[in-house]
Amino acid sequence: MGMRFQIDNACWLGEDAWFHRGTMVIADGRIARLEGRFASDHPLPAGSAAGWRWTPAARRIDAGEGFIVPGLVDAHVHLREPGQAYKEGIANGTAAALKGGVTTVLDMPNNRLPITTAGRFERKRALFARKSRVNYGLFLQAVEGGAKAPETAAGVKIFMAKGSALDAICDAGALERVFRAQDLVVIHAEDEREFFHRVEKSFPQRGKLVHHLRRPRAAVVAALASIETAWRRTPAKQRPRLVIAHCSTVEEIDWVARMKRRGADVWAETCPHYFLFSEKDYLAQGSRLQVNPPLRTGEDRAAIWEAVKNGGIDFVSTDHAPHAPAEKAGRNPPSGIAGIEWLGPILLSLAVRGEISWKRYLELAGRNAARCFGLEGRGGIRKGAWADLAFAEAGEKAAGKAAEKIVTRAAFHPFGHFTFSARIRAVMVDGQVAWVDGRVRRGVHGKEVFQ
Ligand code: DOR
Ligand code: ZN
Repeated sequence: MGMRFQIDNACWLGEDAWFHRGTMVIADGRIARLEGRFASDHPLPAGSAAGWRWTPAARRIDAGEGFIVPGLVDAHVHLREPGQAYKEGIANGTAAALKGGVTTVLDMPNNRLPITTAGRFERKRALFARKSRVNYGLFLQAVEGGAKAPETAAGVKIFMAKGSALDAICDAGALERVFRAQDLVVIHAEDEREFFHRVEKSFPQRGKLVHHLRRPRAAVVAALASIETAWRRTPAKQRPRLVIAHCSTVEEIDWVARMKRRGADVWAETCPHYFLFSEKDYLAQGSRLQVNPPLRTGEDRAAIWEAVKNGGIDFVSTDHAPHAPAEKAGRNPPSGIAGIEWLGPILLSLAVRGEISWKRYLELAGRNAARCFGLEGRGGIRKGAWADLAFAEAGEKAAGKAAEKIVTRAAFHPFGHFTFSARIRAVMVDGQVAWVDGRVRRGVHGKEVFQ
């Protein structure tokens, strides 16, 4: 018989997007019982959660004034182990995930060396099994003539712009060959053949901040055209599920909507930086906001934000892409924003303030990613689901202005100007308390989500 854990006075966000108050019982890592006595369309007002007693031995707690949401799913992270653990690593990156309320991560394959073979995939799996503090799944990187992703992979990742030592896959014929061989493909949709390499000469007044000019919108438009051609040429039965990673433009939003109307199995992902920032923020803050795809215009940002609110975007991931601060400050800074530890607080803040509905919150924060990638028992609070839970508090006071300890080795808070209206107080992974008020519980490990 496994462990049992009871939460009294729990206020949880149910599958119906209502908050239910009552008792939650967890057994063997899963939600065994949900006894709601009344429901409301809003969590209770903020208060102190001083009643929480999270001693390791506790088998029963009072949830006090906080509320419980499903642990978030971040379907796009780069934890950089093996190969570049100095930039983050699995143990530290998943500690940052916990701070953000994230209980499942899907890790990208552009490691040094890139994860292109069964052997490298298995070695990386073994590392995650030993080190990950949250549940996880891994991608394989698509290469021309590469093998089908194993059942234990989240899918394959196609980089249409070089993201590792490997060549990009850009033309429609090559895309088609990957499509025919795979079941699920996540695509970085910027065709690198459209990039400019000598923009400094044309834009000297911009100084060094030309990253967004190097990678024009035309690269996205060209990528979408090739993807569509490859999709059309692939026999309907062989077409994989497609995920357009980190949508950053009006064009991607329109394209995904049009493809969905045609019945295509296409999903749209974006990241907080694409609806919170534009190229103006990059020009103001410099290389710390240099990212691929680059931050784009105010109109793009507005279109992404509209799509986050109205359903054009299926889920929000972070594309957590940490680099050492010295690298970011150097002469040829690498691209990437490391935002996983603010994912839950950002999305919760938007819902607490009524900027997105709680139904949309559930979809964006985990439900849709769980459906898209086939994560059994994740992304929602329901009887029988895994007890992946984030314990939150609402209110400007709860969010606080106090200096916070940054967990990621990137050591930079990209969302310092965002007004937080919620924070995460504690996180459970498969029914085990993994993180409380900034402290990681040692010895708690996540599981692989594809088994
Ligand atoms: O900014 C980015 N950084 N975009 C990517 O697509 C890759 C990532 C990385 O691995 O650094
Ligand atoms: Zn990425």
